Amino acid sequence: MDSNLALNRTMAEDSVTRLYPVILKVPSHLQQLKGREKVAALSAVARRAMAASAILSRVDLPSVLEKDNRGAPCPVGSIHWSLTHKSAWAGAVVAPGPAGIDLETIRPFHPGLPKKVAMEEEWRLADGDRNRLLFRYWTAKEAVLKASGTGLRGLDHCRIVSVQGPGCTVVRFEKRSWTVYHLYFDGQVAAITAPGGPIRWTILDLPDPPP
Ligand SMILES: CC(C)(COP(=O)(O)OP(=O)(O)OC[C@H]1O[C@@H](n2cnc3c(N)ncnc32)[C@H](O)[C@@H]1OP(=O)(O)O)[C@@H](O)C(=O)NCCC(=O)NCCS
Repeated sequence: MDSNLALNRTMAEDSVTRLYPVILKVPSHLQQLKGREKVAALSAVARRAMAASAILSRVDLPSVLEKDNRGAPCPVGSIHWSLTHKSAWAGAVVAPGPAGIDLETIRPFHPGLPKKVAMEEEWRLADGDRNRLLFRYWTAKEAVLKASGTGLRGLDHCRIVSVQGPGCTVVRFEKRSWTVYHLYFDGQVAAITAPGGPIRWTILDLPDPPP
């Protein structure tokens, strides 16, 4: 086989099987914004993460990405995408099939929250740090609800069915098992579900503009 052709094939196979989620630290001047202005700024940071994930995955995405009437990302051809933006961090991933990504700060929570996030039988699957577990379960379910396009209204039908070490959670939703992978960093937990792997996470600081 022609050596260039062989190289191109390797790159193409690599780009559709590996996942390259990118997480960006939101610059502090954007974290200080309020209301709609802040949401728009965070959403734009998440789209920068998306552009970076596309470059690493060697796929071309249009500059404007469409969403459906549920707010769910519309795939671009065979390329799916998902993003998340929280006050201090934003992340995104492109993938060769339905994908969901979510991020949360591991923090103290209201005593009523565990009942909303999972049932007793789900909590019995794991022990250890309760804050970490709560946000692990929460991000795992949100990632699945994003990958399915359902959004939070599907939360009551999502069940954690297996907790495998710190990095893998299996969620049952709509008669399907979804494997979710986690990353813990700087007091945050990220969750991703998508076909393909292994997952190569990238975490970067976006600098503030000079004064
Ligand atoms: C999807 C959802 C779980 C996101 O939760 P969140 O923790 O508040 O927000 P995150 O920052 O993690 O994610 C936001 C991103 O999720 C994506 N998103 C929104 N709705 C989505 C859906 N139904 N499925 C998949 N992804 C969705 C969007 O890309 C959004 O970012 P953007 O607005 O900048 O494009 C939640 O917003 C939700 O349930 N939305 C659906 C609301 C709905 O059903 N609306 C009906 C139409 S009126």
